[in-house]
Amino acid sequence: MKKTLALALAVVMSLGLLAGCGGGGNTSTPAQSNPGTSQPAASNPAASIPDAPAGGGTVGVCIYKFDDAFMTTYRNALQEILEGKGYKVTVVDGNNDQSKQNEQINTFITQGVDALIINPCMTSAADSIIATVKAANVPTVLINREPTAEQMSAYDKLVYVGCDAAQSGTFQGELILETPNKGDINGDGKVSYIMIQGDPENIDAQLRTEYSVKALKDAGIEVEELDLQRGDWDREKGQTICANDLAQYGDKIEVVFCNNDDMAIGALQSIQAAGRTVNKDIYLVGVDALDAALNEVMNGNMTGTVLNDAVGQATEAVNQMELLLGGATYTSGNQSVYVNYVKVTPDNAKDFVK
Ligand code: BGC
Repeated sequence: MKKTLALALAVVMSLGLLAGCGGGGNTSTPAQSNPGTSQPAASNPAASIPDAPAGGGTVGVCIYKFDDAFMTTYRNALQEILEGKGYKVTVVDGNNDQSKQNEQINTFITQGVDALIINPCMTSAADSIIATVKAANVPTVLINREPTAEQMSAYDKLVYVGCDAAQSGTFQGELILETPNKGDINGDGKVSYIMIQGDPENIDAQLRTEYSVKALKDAGIEVEELDLQRGDWDREKGQTICANDLAQYGDKIEVVFCNNDDMAIGALQSIQAAGRTVNKDIYLVGVDALDAALNEVMNGNMTGTVLNDAVGQATEAVNQMELLLGGATYTSGNQSVYVNYVKVTPDNAKDFVK
């Protein structure tokens, strides 16, 4: 049985390498991490795996809140992939409440799950989440909200799977640079924009906000920020913020940057209600490539978006979970595995419709 596990691990690891995960995620085999032993320590819940059929363990999945358009696609993909591999999966809704999610993590631990996949409600809770899973010795994959390398280094059976948020911001800036007037619709020599931010506690929101504008500045474009407000990744908030800004700044607004597509769809409703026309007298960009946004990009109602690859990340999260279950450990500074973002324009949008 040990041999079968070693073989399965070798296959999984080579698949992982073929997948070409961008951000390191260096792993070591059980033999390296536990010198003198060929399998994980007996106290590790993963030690039960050798007696279980391949892919037959139990997995607890904690999602920060079900009522999030992108995380809905992501969690559905996770569930489908895990169940397809024969895992027994329970997915729970944290309702954006960290204390509720802490209870859910503790319940999974008490139930003796073999592995956890956690999308934290609050990035600031990373230290306590990591301490909890470490104390219980449960292999854990964190997703979507990236803690610092230092925080993750506290536990070697922990890995983060996500994307390099700076890249998505840069792509948003490039989408504007690729327009005929590089975002300067009124020709006054500067690009005047509003920024509708996700939850600012989340590094995706911070870096998208920074790098979208940085791409313009790096190209030598002068920028003017008319407004920056948090829309918490939420469509209705995106709509309200954009409506208020259009009422206040009117034609001065040339670009609407949204940290995600759901807020961009909300913003689009306000743009249309105000009688403005995307790609003619205003530009609008998002991130995620939700189906609704892809349709608007193809219809010309959004300038572009950026694919946040939910299926790719779910696949990689499961891959990393299986490495952990096989006894792999991670070294400090190599605990983030990134899946690439892809810039989406009217030319390639149809390729991403699910
Ligand atoms: C996505 C957002 C989502 C957020 C949740 C981001 O990466 O782009 O749409 O709301 O993750 O944490």
